[in-house]
Amino acid sequence: MNDKKSFLAGAGANTRLAHIGNDPSDYHGFVNPPVVHASTVLFPNAKTMETRAQKYTYGTRGTPTTDALCEAIDELEGSAGTILVPSGLAAVTVPFLAFLAAGDHALIVDSVYFPTRHFCDTMLKRLGVSVDYYDPMIGAGIESLIKPNTKLVHTEAPGSNTFEMQDISAISAVAHRHGCVVTMDNTWATPLYFKPLDHGVDISIHASTKYPSGHSDILLGTVSANAAHWEQLKEANITLGICASPDDSYQILRGLRTMGVRLDRHQESTLNIARWLEEREDVARVLHPALPSFPGHELWKRDFTGSSGIFSFVLKTESPDRFKAKAHAFLDALSLFGLGYSWGGFESLALHVGLSDRKVCKAPSEGSVLRLQIGLEDVADIRKDIEAGLAAAKSV
Ligand SMILES: Cc1ncc(COP(=O)(O)O)c(C=O)c1O
Repeated sequence: MNDKKSFLAGAGANTRLAHIGNDPSDYHGFVNPPVVHASTVLFPNAKTMETRAQKYTYGTRGTPTTDALCEAIDELEGSAGTILVPSGLAAVTVPFLAFLAAGDHALIVDSVYFPTRHFCDTMLKRLGVSVDYYDPMIGAGIESLIKPNTKLVHTEAPGSNTFEMQDISAISAVAHRHGCVVTMDNTWATPLYFKPLDHGVDISIHASTKYPSGHSDILLGTVSANAAHWEQLKEANITLGICASPDDSYQILRGLRTMGVRLDRHQESTLNIARWLEEREDVARVLHPALPSFPGHELWKRDFTGSSGIFSFVLKTESPDRFKAKAHAFLDALSLFGLGYSWGGFESLALHVGLSDRKVCKAPSEGSVLRLQIGLEDVADIRKDIEAGLAAAKSV
C-alpha cells in the first residue's frame, strides 16, 4: 500500500474527513475502529504494571476508540493533543479549571454561551477567580483590560445568539504578550471553516454535540491544545477524571465522515433564508456574519472559509411591550421547526433569545431576537414554515 498519510496531507476537506482517525489495518482491515468498553486493562507482568510501560493502562486514559477520534480531531485542528469530555459545556469548564487558580483574573467575551457565563459567575468566583466581560469587537484594545493577574482570555466567534465577530489574531497577540492563555469556543465554524490554532489560539473548544454529531442524539465535547499547553490540559483532565464514553466517541467519529457535506448543505440553505429574511419589511435586521450588512462581516471574510446553519433575526415590533407576544406568535405558528435548544442536527429549530445577561452587548431595540437553526430539509418547505410564523406575528 502506498503512503496514505502523505496523500491525505494534501487532500481536500471531505477526503480527509472520510479517512482521518483510525487506520483500518490496525484492526484486521475493518473500516471502522472497534468500540472498546473498558475500565481495566491487564498488564503482562509486575514490571510492566509498575512502570506502566504499555500503550493503554486504564479506561479513563484512553482506548483505541477514543484515540481514533482524538487523532481525527488533531488532524482537523492542527493540535498537539485533544481530550474528550462528556458535553460541550465540559469542553469549556475543564480548560478553565486546567489553566486558572485562586487569585487569577479571566477575561470572557460578553457574547459568550450563557452556561459558560454561569460557570464563571458561580463556580469560578467561588474558587477565587475574578472575571470581567469584554466587548467582542474590542480587538487589540483588550490590552486596556488586562491586569497583572489576568491569566486567561476566552473568545467565542461568532458570539452565541447575536453572532458578533472577534479579531482573534489581534486578541491572541496581545494576550500572549501578557502571558495569558487564549481559549476559543469554535463550535459555530467547526475546524472546517476556521482553525483557531492557526490564528494564535492556544486551546480550541468544540461542542461536538452540534455538527460532528449532526443528529441531535449525542452529547460530547473536544478540547484541543497546541504543544505549549497540551501537557497541562491532559494532566488536568486525568486529575478530574472526566472522560467520554466509547459509544459516544464512536458516534462522533462516524458523524465526522459526513460533516463536510452536511455543513455545505446547512450553509447554502441558511444563506438562502438569511438573504430572503433581510429583504422582508417585517424583519428589522438579520444577524449573520456572512451577510455584508452585518457589522463583523469584514472579519468573517478575512478569517473564515464558510458559514454554518445557525443565525438570528430581529422581528420588527413597534413597542417593547409587544416584543414577547409577537415572538411567541411566530414560534407557536411553526409546524416544521421544533422549539428546542441546541443545533447542528438534521432538523430545523427555533427559539426566542434572552439577552438580559449581557453586560456590554445590549439587546436590539427594534424587536425580539429569534434564533433559527436551519436543518437539512428542503429550503422551500423551511421558507413556507417561516412565512406562516411571520404572518402570525404580524397579526399580533
Ligand atoms: C457555542 C456553544 N458552546 C458550547 C455549547 C455546549 O454544548 P453541549 O450542549 O454539548 O453542552 C453550546 C450548546 O448549545 C453552544 O451553543
